Amino acid sequence: MNTLIIGAGAREHALAWKLQQSPRVEKIFVAPGNAGTAHLATNVNLQSPGSSLQSPISSLQSLISSLHITFVVIGPETPLADGLADALRAQNIRVFGPNQNAAEIESSKTFAKDFMRRNNIPTARYETFTDFDDALRHVETIDYPMVIKASGLAAGKGVIIPETLDEARDALRQIMLKRAFGAAGDAVVIEERLQGEEISVLAFSDGFTVKAMPPAQDHKRLLDGDLGPNTGGMGAYAPVNVSENFLDEITREILQPTIDGLRAEGRMFVGVLYAGLMLTNDGARVLEFNCRFGDPEAQALLPLLESDLLDVLEACVNGNLAQCEVKWKRGAAACVVLASGGYPNQYATGIPIHGLDAMQNRNALIFHAGTKLQDAQVVTNGGRVLCVTGVGKNLGDALDTAYAAIRPIHFEGMQFRRDIGKKDWRLETRDFALHAK
Ligand code: AMP
Ligand code: GLY
Repeated sequence: MNTLIIGAGAREHALAWKLQQSPRVEKIFVAPGNAGTAHLATNVNLQSPGSSLQSPISSLQSLISSLHITFVVIGPETPLADGLADALRAQNIRVFGPNQNAAEIESSKTFAKDFMRRNNIPTARYETFTDFDDALRHVETIDYPMVIKASGLAAGKGVIIPETLDEARDALRQIMLKRAFGAAGDAVVIEERLQGEEISVLAFSDGFTVKAMPPAQDHKRLLDGDLGPNTGGMGAYAPVNVSENFLDEITREILQPTIDGLRAEGRMFVGVLYAGLMLTNDGARVLEFNCRFGDPEAQALLPLLESDLLDVLEACVNGNLAQCEVKWKRGAAACVVLASGGYPNQYATGIPIHGLDAMQNRNALIFHAGTKLQDAQVVTNGGRVLCVTGVGKNLGDALDTAYAAIRPIHFEGMQFRRDIGKKDWRLETRDFALHAK
């Protein structure tokens, strides 16, 4: 079977790497891909899939028929939010990834919050606003710490955590009047600021059944010790050491009701549902839902998947996930992102990357994110450049392997965190409560 993966990051490289191990997969194409995917698959060029949909859609359709592609996996949220899955399904193409109306669980925070409220899914209290004066009045009256969020997709930048009332007023001005995030800020969510550990629980779904993956933790801040600006994610590890019991509760009380609630509203969710959770003293709360694999979570989770990825993705698309056994390896995986100097702000591209061919441990995997080939040399081509994963019998082992594999790699300006997973890997299994005691 020929498959096509849409996207260009380390998540898509990891998807290609795992799909390639399936005996039923013949050729893998990645659009547009990167220097890493070019190695194990064939990159195909579309003008920025998903960003403006009309011409990419028709060129995608002709590509799919000329390359005899019978299965498509959509990596990033933007093409899902733009309706790429719907357009392909309308042509009878089998697609892993939700339709536009189900993807709204990520692309509209106002929808997601209202959905959680009507389905009793635990989340921070909140109000939504489309009018600036109403929003301003609200922040001036509430007496608890808050978070202000642009409702639409803002490439991970639309969440502001103000420390003072003035900062809150300014955030509203930036989002609603100056339109710092464009139409994504036409509506805002103002919610209670929560305290606690964050974890990501991702699950496969066919629209009826959910099968949770091992819990993962992302590291959003740029610098060690969770300091510095927010990024797309500087590293991740899995599994986070929480109890089976707690995970079952998350499936029963968060993931399953979400999939059921979406279906009941005519929004069948076929794909990966990602719940970002805050583990507070009063129980777990959903901070956000995403409608796809996390990046970098996927680079830690996919190496732990024992089952054939194509079998699992097909079971979701065919509606028989309940009959598909999803097996995970014992042990742990951790990934560390190597980013460009200056990221998450301005950074240069086209910088040669050295040391990629050094002898590697077979438990180390180098997934490319922002890279491209230039005259047979791999050069930087984005903010997050590489993601190096280590797999081991426990988290400490996985981290040692990942950091050892990074040692020979170098490019000018390269920055990475040295404390991925460090905070937690010695901790005992923790048993959080979903509800306040
Ligand atoms: P989101 O895109 O909604 O997940 O928000 C991005 C980040 O902002 C999260 O990963 C959290 O670190 C933080 N955040 C979001 N909502 C809240 C909240 N209600 N309380 C505290 N932190 C939050
Ligand atoms: N790791 C966060 C995300 O993929 O949105």
